[in-house]
Amino acid sequence: MGFYSEDIISEIRSSTDIVEIISQYVSLQKRGDSYVGLCPFHSEKTPSFYVSPEKQLFYCFGCGAGGNVFTFLMKKENLKFPEAVRLLADRLNITLPSSEYDKNVSQAFRQKREQLRLNKMAQDYYHNILLNTKEGIRGLEYLKKRGITLETVERFRLGYAPPLWDGLIRHFRSMGVDLETLVKIGLAIAKKNGKGFYDRFRDRIMFPIEDATKNVIGFGGRIIGPGEPKYLNSPESPVFSKGENLYAISAIKKNPEMEIIVVEGYMDCISLHQSGFTQTVASLGTALTRMQAKLLKNYTGSVILAYDTDSAGQAATLRGMEILAKEGLNVKVLRLPEAKDPDEFIRKKGAEALRQQLSEALYHIDYKLYLAKKGVDIAAPAGKIKYIKMALKILSEIGNEVEREVYIQKVASELNIPVKALKDEIKKNRFPDNGLKYKKSPRRDNNKEFSKILPVTGAYKAERMIIKLLIENEEARQKVVENLVPSNFLNEKTRKIADLLFEMIRSKKDVKANEVFDHLDQDTSSELSGILMANLDFQGEGMIDSLIEKIKENYLKHAINQVRAQIQKAEAVGEREETTILLNTYQKLKSQMNELKATRNAEKGGV
Ligand code: CTP
Ligand code: MN
Repeated sequence: MGFYSEDIISEIRSSTDIVEIISQYVSLQKRGDSYVGLCPFHSEKTPSFYVSPEKQLFYCFGCGAGGNVFTFLMKKENLKFPEAVRLLADRLNITLPSSEYDKNVSQAFRQKREQLRLNKMAQDYYHNILLNTKEGIRGLEYLKKRGITLETVERFRLGYAPPLWDGLIRHFRSMGVDLETLVKIGLAIAKKNGKGFYDRFRDRIMFPIEDATKNVIGFGGRIIGPGEPKYLNSPESPVFSKGENLYAISAIKKNPEMEIIVVEGYMDCISLHQSGFTQTVASLGTALTRMQAKLLKNYTGSVILAYDTDSAGQAATLRGMEILAKEGLNVKVLRLPEAKDPDEFIRKKGAEALRQQLSEALYHIDYKLYLAKKGVDIAAPAGKIKYIKMALKILSEIGNEVEREVYIQKVASELNIPVKALKDEIKKNRFPDNGLKYKKSPRRDNNKEFSKILPVTGAYKAERMIIKLLIENEEARQKVVENLVPSNFLNEKTRKIADLLFEMIRSKKDVKANEVFDHLDQDTSSELSGILMANLDFQGEGMIDSLIEKIKENYLKHAINQVRAQIQKAEAVGEREETTILLNTYQKLKSQMNELKATRNAEKGGV
């Protein structure tokens, strides 16, 4: 491995419970000996993601992702192996030898950690100014005026950036911090003349932005007085990417049944939390991105969009709806009569009124129909026709046939026109030139990872079983190593695993399943996890021989075919010498195959 000693890695491993770690990302339910949840690596509606506390493994029977606790963190947090080790060590308060760490762990990762540390320090700095200094009074008064309580200030670690050019800079300098790093994370700006730095955020209420694991990755700052811009955000940096995060995501409980409210602004978000709507996040002013939709998907199956009611908010709602629905989320839209945003609504009408509106949120298709109907008098023929035209467009855009059918019925009965009339029009809409059947609109393939899974052929199954035996059955090990070599495994992944296991066995090392993972790439880890989680119907000692035989036979069959093809090629171009060598090999392989068959026949005859 090179980075950390096996001792430290096994200490970390043995002090970690995979169920506990994965629970921080996936809501798991106990089922038999395992825990089950919705896979965080592909989108699904019924759980096929299993975590085994006994084996300390995870495996998704839907997409085939799997591995141990390190593999999980590597995949989920996009880390390299030593980074995952470090992350777990930090959580367990295990000190890693720093010299080894400093030497080996990638520089980028170290820089990122430093940037996160400084962001955290800045959060404390702004928070302290707001609560405990004379300058902070201005910030507190502003928040009070907007109805924000001290409890909310604490909960969101709100702060205040004083109206100084170098408040934060002086504070950090006194602590010996490298100011260039502050520039990288956007807290300081280098002066144009190259001489020194100044604070980015001045005279602003500070909203620290956390990622899902509670790292402070950036800030949003709202100006207190008049001035532009109203909100200033941290620029994109190695630790902050606006479109990939959601404000307050770290406060969200994972629960596929619990709806998450998505608002536009920081103020909307904290105001809703304060009124008890604690499943609320803000999309940070940007139009919702696919990454944000995926992030939401890790927490819930249903989202309620609660954007501003102005035309920009409405446009963002329509775009956001499509993106969320595409990710397979159930999307509804909140309506807010007589208010410009959720914050104002709650201040004017109270939490109960909001709860009522939430319960009347419209499913996204109903919302489109609702917008189409707005301001149109469907009692009058002209209005009715106008609405039908818009409704037809909406209906023909529904990708899911069942859903489309339901809504066609709904609109037909609402307008009191025959279903067939609508359907005929939709056919024309979808296929202007002819009246052919509905073409299925391209549907998202939820399980495209499936295609990566190899078909379980006889030999492949045997290879998997042998791997399982090598790990779980000590008696089988010697026999397998004496009779096979890793190159006999034709599947690339089982071959990689075999390579590693054979090496461990030959060097008389203990074969520990959980250690094997640390030496495998992610795809191969997934394969191994699948092998260990699957019930491969192992039927006792006598089976080892036939498995070895099966693998050998399959290997020989392939090798013979390959050499035969090579011979044909060599003959065709007149490579005599080459042909002779190949023929030799061919003969050898053939006789091995015959031998194998003879033994098998003898065995059969003997019984
Ligand atoms: N925003 C931004 N930059 C701006 C304006 C807005 O990043 N110049 C983002 C912020 O995340 C803000 C959100 O867009 O919270 C919504 O903007 P707005 O509705 O103006 O903000 P509110 O949260 O409603 O703020 P307030 O109530 O303080 O006016
Ligand atoms: Mn607003």
